[in-house]
Amino acid sequence: MMSAPWARALACAATAAAALFFVHGASAAPAARQTTTTTADQQLVAHGRELYLTGCSSCHGQDATGTVLAPTLVNVGAASASFFLTTGRMPAAQPLPYQPPRKEPAYDQADIDALVAYVATLGSGPPVPNVNVASADVPAGGVIYRANCAACHQAAGAGGALSYGQYAPNLHDSTAQQVVEAIRIGPGQMPVFSPAVISDQDANNLAAYVQYLRHPDNRGGLNLGGTGPVPEGLVALVVGLGGAIFVCVWIVGRRRHATD
Ligand code: HEC
Ligand code: HEC
Repeated sequence: MMSAPWARALACAATAAAALFFVHGASAAPAARQTTTTTADQQLVAHGRELYLTGCSSCHGQDATGTVLAPTLVNVGAASASFFLTTGRMPAAQPLPYQPPRKEPAYDQADIDALVAYVATLGSGPPVPNVNVASADVPAGGVIYRANCAACHQAAGAGGALSYGQYAPNLHDSTAQQVVEAIRIGPGQMPVFSPAVISDQDANNLAAYVQYLRHPDNRGGLNLGGTGPVPEGLVALVVGLGGAIFVCVWIVGRRRHATD
C-alpha cells in the first residue's frame, strides 16, 4: 500500500504535469529543450569567436581565412583546433614559416571548448574523435606504430629530425586523445591517416600503445629513472667494480687475520 504523503505527492505531480501539458501543448517540452541547447551552443561559439578575435585573428585573419602569417582555419575541423590548443601549440609565438612546439596550454578547458566550437563553424573537417583505450589491444597498436609512425617518431617515441629543419616531436607527453587527433589531421609535415587507413578501433589500439611507450615493461633489471645506457652503465661500473674491489679487500683481510 502506498502511504498517504507519497500518494499526495504523486497526485500533485500528475496535476502539475497535466497543467503544463494543457498550457504548452504536446510538443512544448522537446521544443523548449532544443532552444536551450541551441542557445548554449550559440553562446559557446560566440565566446569562442571573441577569444579568436583577441588571441588568433592577428595571424589567422579576422575571418580566419588565413594571412601570410598563418594558414586558413576554414575546413581544418574541430579536431585540429582541439589538437593545436590542448598541446599548447596555439597561440603560436611566431608566424609562418614556423613549427610551433608543444607547451603548456594557454587557455583552460572551457575556453578551449569555446575556440574549438568556433573553429568547427568555419566549414567541415574532422570532428574531435571519440577515443577509448579501456579495451584496446596494445600489441596490435604496436604493429601499426612500427609500420606507420616509427620512421619519424622512432621506435621508442623519442622523436627525431626531419627535412627543412623540422622535427617529429617526442610522444611522451601526448594524451590518447591527442594521438588520435594528430593522425586524423596530420599536423605540419605529418601525413593524415584517415579512418580508411587506420580504423577507429586501430586508432584506439595505437593510442594505447603510445601511452604504453611512456612506461614500457622494464625487462632489463634495475631501472635508474630511464637516464639511458651511458649513465646507467657508469653507475653499474662504479657500484659493481667498487663492490668487487671491496669484497676482494675483505677476503684478503680475513685471510691475513686467519694466518696471524
Ligand atoms: C603568431 C601567429 C599565430 C597566432 C597568434 C595563432 N596562430 Fe595558429 N597557426 C600559426 C602558424 C604559423 C600555424 C602553422 C603551424 C604548423 O604548420 O604547424 C598555425 C596553425 C594553426 C592551426 C592548424 C591549422 C591546420 O592547417 O590544421 C590551428 C587550428 C590554429 N593555428 C589555431 C589557432 C588559434 C585557435 C589561435 C588563437 C588561440 C591561433 N592559432 C593563434 C600562427 C599563429
Ligand atoms: C613523416 C613523419 C611523420 C610520421 C610518419 C608520423 N608523424 Fe606524428 N608528427 C610528425 C611531425 C612533424 C609532428 C609535429 C607537427 C607540428 O606540430 O608541426 C608530429 C606530431 C605528432 C604528435 C603530437 C605530439 C605532441 O604531443 O606534441 C603525435 C601524437 C603524433 N605525431 C603521432 C603520430 C602517430 C601515432 C603516427 C603514426 C600513425 C605518426 N605520428 C606518424 C611527423 C610524423
